[in-house]
Amino acid sequence: MRIVFLGPPGAGKGTQAALLSERFSTPSIATGDILRRHVAQGTPLGLQVGPIMDRGELVSDGLTIELISDRLAEPDARLGFILDGYPRTVNQAIALEELLAEIDAKLDRVIKFAVRTAQIVERLAGRRVCPACKTVYHFVTHPPIVEGVCDNDGAALLLREDDREEAIVRRLEVYGADTRPLYEFYLSRGLLIEIDAIGTTSEVTARLDAALEQ
Ligand code: AP5
Repeated sequence: MRIVFLGPPGAGKGTQAALLSERFSTPSIATGDILRRHVAQGTPLGLQVGPIMDRGELVSDGLTIELISDRLAEPDARLGFILDGYPRTVNQAIALEELLAEIDAKLDRVIKFAVRTAQIVERLAGRRVCPACKTVYHFVTHPPIVEGVCDNDGAALLLREDDREEAIVRRLEVYGADTRPLYEFYLSRGLLIEIDAIGTTSEVTARLDAALEQ
């Protein structure tokens, strides 16, 4: 299956993408993760995009389209994928359609994760990430066994720079202006299914499974 996850920052896309990827044995591809790897490794791309991401702005369409085009060409993505965080603009969505048309393929579903701003702020402010294995925790809803330490490798958990209050506000503005138009874009193609993303992780997983069966 070729699936896109749409939804505001902190809606739980990455959490559900990781779980679905395991259940479907399909790669979960997150442009945010790819970009953060470049930042952590200090590559020229990472040095360029790091400050943009920290402020909560979008990286340019040209750059992200190139990243996703390279990633989708890898063998593990040929038959299916879960895209988490791409597309984020109408230009990116058009580029994705063109890429898929080249291999005579189409998206199967676009899942919109619906949450309210209060949940977004709660989830992002409480998120902690392992810098080594990238496991995502939440200090209330998904805490590690030992506070502040990754269960897998003992690394000290970090708050993402863009999970600070100022950047959260900016990310929500950018989402509203640049990504929200994608709802209409995918609705007009008959691909969009909205799920209620409020509730426990397993409740959201059950709703996601039901949406994918439609
Ligand atoms: P990206 O990494 O894509 O960030 P995002 O879309 O803002 O999404 P998040 O990772 O913040 O949230 P999520 O929905 O995955 O939530 P999660 O599952 O972690 O992008 C970061 C930046 O990269 C962008 O701002 C931009 O600069 C750049 N970028 C990336 N892609 C780009 C593109 N295509 N174009 C241009 N720029 C791009 O959950 C959040 C927290 O809630 C966690 O702590 C989790 O444990 C908890 N949680 C999850 N589900 C539940 C639940 N059901 N109940 C309670 N807690 C829950």
